[in-house]
Amino acid sequence: MDLQEVSFPEAIARYRNNELDEIRAWASTAAPFTPPIQVEIGSNRGRFIQGLAQLYPERSLLGVEWQRKWARLSEQDLRDAGLDNARVLHADVNLALPMLFPDGALERVYVLFPDPWWKRRHAKRRLFTPEFLQLLAAKIAPGGHLVIKTDVEPYAEHIEQLTSTLAQFQATSPGDPGAPDDVEAWPRTTRERKIIRKGLPVWRFFLRRTEAPPTDNPGDAPLPEVFDKPDVTIDNPRQ
Ligand SMILES: C[S@@+](CC[C@H](N)C(=O)[O-])C[C@H]1O[C@@H](n2cnc3c(N)ncnc32)[C@H](O)[C@@H]1O
Repeated sequence: MDLQEVSFPEAIARYRNNELDEIRAWASTAAPFTPPIQVEIGSNRGRFIQGLAQLYPERSLLGVEWQRKWARLSEQDLRDAGLDNARVLHADVNLALPMLFPDGALERVYVLFPDPWWKRRHAKRRLFTPEFLQLLAAKIAPGGHLVIKTDVEPYAEHIEQLTSTLAQFQATSPGDPGAPDDVEAWPRTTRERKIIRKGLPVWRFFLRRTEAPPTDNPGDAPLPEVFDKPDVTIDNPRQ
């Protein structure tokens, strides 16, 4: 087979454009989200978003999941369960959030057990960067929350480092004024259930969006290149 010459930037641009088209096509079939709106990033098989939809029938909920198969199955489960207040979109959240929501539109964003990407050559795929946090700062309304959980201690330390000096987010603990008051009611994700069953620790962040405006110059906090894997291996959360 003869292959055509395609430049790398051109190939990437086409690939990204296909993704943008897919988000546009999905959005054209979705009813507008009415506030309050909450988003789960990396909804995987959809257990959390489905539980949340049952818990909060009056809220609009969106799961964003970049594995097509899980996004489709989750959408189907929501339809089968008659949960019209929740949807799941197959997309990279870095493309989807800027396209779908104006600034300040979101009441809450959950990032629950983000992929650690242990290896040095994969470190740049990690979600938590200064740019990502500024994207979330733009989309979450002042007084809203960014909720993060991880079972990977160095990732927790990294998130702590990235967020502790940001004017846009203020760390809270359940029970504090300004903290989410419904933490105990939240459903557990697939991974969270496994971690708890194994008696392993979970690091939790309840970050309240302050009034500080997001910045266009988030700076460049270097990613730790390697995260040490814990001694105990945990089953693949996608199963
Ligand atoms: C470790 S799994 C955790 C899944 C689930 N939250 C749980 O706790 O069981 C991380 C999920 O995030 C998804 N993901 C990673 N990066 C993403 C991105 N940029 N946009 C959307 N989903 C993403 C992955 O496909 C995967 O399903």
